[in-house]
Amino acid sequence: MTHTVADRFDRVRAIHHALTDTGPEPLRSVHLSDAAETLTLRPPTREPAMPLHAALDDRRSRYDYAPLDHEDLSALLRWALGPQRTLPTAGGGHRMSMHPSAGGLASTTAFPIVLRHIDGIAEGVYQFDRDAHQLLRRREGDVRGALTRCLVQPEFAERTPVIIVIVGELEATLVKYSERHYRTLHVDAGLAVANLYLVATALDLACCAISGFYDDQLAETLSLSESQIPLVAFAVGARRQVREQR
Ligand SMILES: Cc1cc2nc3c(=O)[nH]c(=O)nc-3n(C[C@H](O)[C@H](O)[C@H](O)COP(=O)(O)O)c2cc1C
Repeated sequence: MTHTVADRFDRVRAIHHALTDTGPEPLRSVHLSDAAETLTLRPPTREPAMPLHAALDDRRSRYDYAPLDHEDLSALLRWALGPQRTLPTAGGGHRMSMHPSAGGLASTTAFPIVLRHIDGIAEGVYQFDRDAHQLLRRREGDVRGALTRCLVQPEFAERTPVIIVIVGELEATLVKYSERHYRTLHVDAGLAVANLYLVATALDLACCAISGFYDDQLAETLSLSESQIPLVAFAVGARRQVREQR
């Protein structure tokens, strides 16, 4: 059976809707306003130079966070999710990412939510432009209050300096692949998070993946379009050395 791309969208959106966690509260408008500001991140000054075996061995989900500085966020985004090689194409070249994705498609976008002011980066919802190494500010206002209502464990919003949401781009995938690749988007997001875990560990940061969130609330907080879905989130801050986790 063949489906047009529009049919694919409708079917995938229906499947996604059936699988979403709506949360205890009805969807309420959050106190955020739209923003449009471009912020070029400082070039990373640190490299995740820890040997791979040491990073694998030291990686943990950590729940205590100290404030994050600009260079750490810049280095994390650059090395975990930034650009890698460029493949020649008729159109001039296709930039690949540090993490693989099915078909090399730009199937996910990272939305860093800055919950505690970072040097040169105000609190707000941002979209990471990996090629330009920029943050595009999309929303401002009470981001912590808004995110608290999105999370099954709202304490993440209280404790964490930055939460990076990996968003799936249905359009990027469904114009090429069939409906079943809705599932592949989640694999792509898992690979992005695996990179984030290892790079954060190698940069001596504290981090934890988060899948406990209410989809519609989070989509509204991020101001996502109909073809974007939040897949997984990732809390990150500097590491507190006071006590190590199990
Ligand atoms: C995809 C994914 C989603 C997760 N979601 C949550 C979450 O919502 N809340 C939480 O406290 N931990 C979450 N975790 C952390 C796991 O509980 C943790 O990875 C697991 O207990 C193994 O511990 P370790 O990461 O320290 O090895 C998640 C981990 C992964 C990989």
